[in-house]
Amino acid sequence: MPTAPHAHFAQTLLSWYGRHKRSLPWRETTDPYFIWLSEVILQQTRVAQGLPYYERFTATYPTVQDLAAAPQDEVLRLWQGLGYYSRARNMHHTAQLVVEQYGGQFPGKYEELLKLKGVGSYTAAAIAAFAFQEQVAVLDGNVFRVLARVFGISDDIAAPASRKVFQQLADQLVPIDEPDTYNQAIMEFGAIQCTPVMPDCLFCPLQQSCFAFNHGMVQELPVKSKAKAARPRFFHYIVFELDGAFYLRKRLGGDIWQGLYDFYLYESDNKELAMEQLLQELQEAGVPVQEAQVQPPAKDYKHILSHQKITARFYRIKLKAPLKDEVITETRLAPYTVEKIEALPKPVLISSYLKDAKILVYL
Ligand code: ADE
Repeated sequence: MPTAPHAHFAQTLLSWYGRHKRSLPWRETTDPYFIWLSEVILQQTRVAQGLPYYERFTATYPTVQDLAAAPQDEVLRLWQGLGYYSRARNMHHTAQLVVEQYGGQFPGKYEELLKLKGVGSYTAAAIAAFAFQEQVAVLDGNVFRVLARVFGISDDIAAPASRKVFQQLADQLVPIDEPDTYNQAIMEFGAIQCTPVMPDCLFCPLQQSCFAFNHGMVQELPVKSKAKAARPRFFHYIVFELDGAFYLRKRLGGDIWQGLYDFYLYESDNKELAMEQLLQELQEAGVPVQEAQVQPPAKDYKHILSHQKITARFYRIKLKAPLKDEVITETRLAPYTVEKIEALPKPVLISSYLKDAKILVYL
């Protein structure tokens, strides 16, 4: 590959970045722990939404040792709302690994960072480039988009095999000087200038050399195949209440929301649930229902995940007495006071319900 246009590309981005960059806290540090935290959070959300999470995590856990030593419930509670909770569990696990096996120091090389369980090529490259000035390319959605457009690459960015194509090109573009600033620059350029829907091509410093601009293909690039339709799921939550406490349980693995707390769940293939039948079944199971207190669901709660579309309804049921031991053993439910519930990590739709039902006031 000729080097001159590439040098021009990096130079143009660096100079653009100097004029347009946002001031963000993780750009003011070379501490790999903070950089790692920021990148794990930013894989999950945009900068504006990610910032308060970054601030809460760094304030609560100023060192990797603090994060490693934290209870999992607390880490998940701080992560609440970011979704994809396995990321938070992996992050916690990685912190413990760094403390136990690396003496609390993140390794300083891309290849070594990759060996850390829970650190993929994106995160390894980000830490290597931002904390250790290694000459590797950080490839996120923004970078894919910029490269696809400027260099006219039509490989499907949703296909895992395309990564190699992009990584190879991206690695060649990273300058020896300032690999850290360059990587921030290309990501920022994608986030601010070369945006998905309405890129600012008119005032773009790469306009002349941009393949997509010159071929009228800005809307066609990058090529991204559509994800499969999300599977609909219908959740019926039974909210058992006794003397101001509520029964919840911690979700196990094998499904979404592992480690988060929710209510007794009955899942069905549609959103209707016959109340009469529900009450009868509860009574047969020996649940001491105070019938007059059964409240039908007020509304549907919807939550969209990458492959699932969840509709949830809540049925609040007051009890006359505690749930029997057999029921507790089978369902793993336990009563929690409102203060305890506040501190538990919960799926967002559970929090929304608790707020709407005025069970939790401070959320
Ligand atoms: N998105 C992912 N990483 C980022 C970073 N370091 N700065 C801004 N946005 C980002």
